[in-house]
Amino acid sequence: MARFLVTGGAGYVGSHLVRALVARGDDVVVLDNLRQGHRAAVPSTVEFVEAELADRARVAAVFANWKFEAVFHFAALSLVGESMREPLRYCAENGANSLWLAEAAVQAGVRKFVFSSTAALFGFPKSVPIAEDAELAPASAYGTSKLIVEQGLHWADQVHGLRSACLRYFNAAGADPSGEIGEDHEPETHLIPLCIGAALGTRPPLTVFGTDYATPDGTCIRDYVHVNDLAAAHLAVLPLLEERSLRYNLGNGAGYSVKQVIESVERISGRKVPHSFGPRRPGDPAALVASSETLRRETGWQPRFAALDDIVRTAWAWHEAHPRGYDDRA
Ligand code: UFG
Repeated sequence: MARFLVTGGAGYVGSHLVRALVARGDDVVVLDNLRQGHRAAVPSTVEFVEAELADRARVAAVFANWKFEAVFHFAALSLVGESMREPLRYCAENGANSLWLAEAAVQAGVRKFVFSSTAALFGFPKSVPIAEDAELAPASAYGTSKLIVEQGLHWADQVHGLRSACLRYFNAAGADPSGEIGEDHEPETHLIPLCIGAALGTRPPLTVFGTDYATPDGTCIRDYVHVNDLAAAHLAVLPLLEERSLRYNLGNGAGYSVKQVIESVERISGRKVPHSFGPRRPGDPAALVASSETLRRETGWQPRFAALDDIVRTAWAWHEAHPRGYDDRA
């Protein structure tokens, strides 16, 4: 049994990792400012510290209080569109919060750091599926803010021996099959919850952003990866971190178009997804699909929810039971 620090553990992906750690019998400390996260997403048995990462004294006190086997760092600003209105805030907050957190880990003698990175590192990729060694060329300040951290972590390894795994998430989706935790963002910008909200009538009709992409049906293609498969990958990399730092793409390896997602939600829910067709959203690449071959080969990880319908089924169950998200649990 080990103890882990999970920043952003009350958020969407972080809360699913916390659940996986608790199921393994590990001790967990969650640090979250609850601006996007939800207290109800974290089991009451888990130590919970409500704090800003920017509060370095609080963070140092957490490291002084508990000894951690590894840090899982999820907490971040994560809206690509917002990052293009406030690029300096994104680079400064995501960069500084993460790098000072890594510094605190080093000072406390922690040797392993797992970082939530992003497919946005690749910008507009030259070829798809995107290989793990493809050129890094972020097309948004959000992507740059994550690249800054990856680069800092490289030097933390070289100089301090802090081993890091940077997991470049593609499109996180779905919910834990228990139906107890799931996606609840405000504002919500992601395709699957917006489709489901439109079908339920809790959100307005969906606008499909662009129908003239160079894809088979003209809409954008993305690689949707189940949030529990993301969590499992965080656990799969831990043993390898004994040896060296790691950089992996984290996706299913299968691409689905916006129209296919709408069809899947209609199939699973038995309802129509009211939608209209609008212009492209600036900054959207036509297709983002991961090659996660290196991750699979080196860790044995493979997605348990490989089919889009299986992912959508878990998301539908969560949203149907909690149409207003965690507020329904109050
Ligand atoms: N889409 C619509 N209508 C909407 C919302 C989305 O058509 O109302 C489309 C988008 O244009 C895109 C697809 O649905 O083609 C998926 O969009 P999301 O906003 O759900 O996800 P993104 O692919 O834009 O973003 C994801 C992550 C980001 C990450 C990025 C990497 O959410 O954190 O991939 O490029 F940075």
